[in-house]
Amino acid sequence: MTVRHFLSLMDCSQAELIGLIKRGVELKSLHQQGVIYEPLKNRVLAMIFEKASTRTRVSFEAGMIQLGGQAIFLSPRDTQLGRGEPIEDSARVLSSMCDAVMIRTFAHQDLETFAQYSRVPVINGLSDDLHPCQLLADMQTYLEHRGSIQGKTVAWVGDGNNMCNTFIQAAIQFDFNLRVACPEGYEPDKAFLDQAGDRVTVTRDPLEAVAGAHLVNTDVWASMGQEDEAQARLKRFAPYQVTPAMLDHADESVLFMHCLPAHRGEEVNDQIMEDPRSVVWQQAENRLHAQKALVEFLLAD
Ligand code: CP
Ligand code: NVA
Repeated sequence: MTVRHFLSLMDCSQAELIGLIKRGVELKSLHQQGVIYEPLKNRVLAMIFEKASTRTRVSFEAGMIQLGGQAIFLSPRDTQLGRGEPIEDSARVLSSMCDAVMIRTFAHQDLETFAQYSRVPVINGLSDDLHPCQLLADMQTYLEHRGSIQGKTVAWVGDGNNMCNTFIQAAIQFDFNLRVACPEGYEPDKAFLDQAGDRVTVTRDPLEAVAGAHLVNTDVWASMGQEDEAQARLKRFAPYQVTPAMLDHADESVLFMHCLPAHRGEEVNDQIMEDPRSVVWQQAENRLHAQKALVEFLLAD
């Protein structure tokens, strides 16, 4: 039997993705009612973190415990992976002991290699290219607040980074239009743009992207691994700070999202985080529920 991995949103069909976010809503409701639901008793998720994390680690760990299983946190400081043991060897060994492996790393290719040698599902917990688990939570959050996102207009303001690439894939899979506003030289990867065709447009002007939009997103200007570029990026991205005044150009039903962590005074100002149109805290909480739906989908009998 072929193993299902979740390295990108393209690893699921459109119907599966819609099913996952609806299941996230159901699991959230069960959790809020205090219902004990443990379909993953004795199941183990290994989590390899080569970059820092608050939300991804805690949501997977709490989610596995709530579903009756367990999660093991592995950092390169403590494992042989950090001392150069080949990815192929680590994949064979870890997947012989655990039921799924979540990986947060730099090169997306490393995830692909791990998945190729793993006999259990591999989940992308963020790579330099993509962050699909975040989009499950974001799409669940939009559904809960505004219903279906199909046919809506979404604006991405800022860096054409891993989150932006994932929004491009979401535009394909959830069938919405995406306008990306970014400085020249900071566009999302061409391969993702080509895959999306004319449902995704790129502009230099944040107001052009935000005008009439139903959802506005941003993210940090320097992602993990780009710390050396942070100062130069501050200058380049200054016109792209998302503020309540910028959001006033959007549709009146607009929601504001940020995957967090946020840098106030950079890609956001103080006010936008607490603006009534902001759903950033709900997004963060939904990481828990959306990923419980994901591990249930990948692991439950
Ligand atoms: N949004 C997100 O993935 O947060 P962490 O880096 O805290 O996991
Ligand atoms: N683009 C950010 C997302 C963090 C969740 C990064 O890769 O650091």
